[in-house]
Amino acid sequence: MPTAAKLVTTKNDLPYEVRQNLVQRLNAVLAQSIDLAAQAKQAHWNVKGPNFFSLHELFDKAAGEIAAFSDDLAERAVQLGGIAEGTIQAVGRASTLPEYPLDLTTGNGHVEAFSSALAAFGRTVRESIDYAAGLNDADTADLFTEISRAVDKLLWLVEAHQQ
Ligand SMILES: [Fe+2]
Repeated sequence: MPTAAKLVTTKNDLPYEVRQNLVQRLNAVLAQSIDLAAQAKQAHWNVKGPNFFSLHELFDKAAGEIAAFSDDLAERAVQLGGIAEGTIQAVGRASTLPEYPLDLTTGNGHVEAFSSALAAFGRTVRESIDYAAGLNDADTADLFTEISRAVDKLLWLVEAHQQ
């Protein structure tokens, strides 16, 4: 979790300390989302085997959706007076997702690795819904809820390949 940074002045009426905590949480989830989108691309590029085309397309769709989440998370952090910490170096320090294996090629291998990463991200996001709601920020909670629902759907689409 990054340290609480000083916020810029805004007329947003959420209390300063609440915004500080939310910015910190948003940056933690942002780091995971940027990591996860790169993992989806890694799977998109390297998957091989009988389900090649459907998995190649699905991993790309996942990367695109996750990149859109990153955008919303980063912009919410800035709306609350914070700095979005989205550089590769900052993300590398902050993401708590396991490193995606570089030696995978099979469909099953990528489905297993990527579904695990999606599920780990999903757990963080679901937990963040309650965190934001506990700070009385229904809007950030709503953003996390929207992302959580989309992650559950992506997880279904990916896991269906091994069920
Ligand atoms: Fe591509």
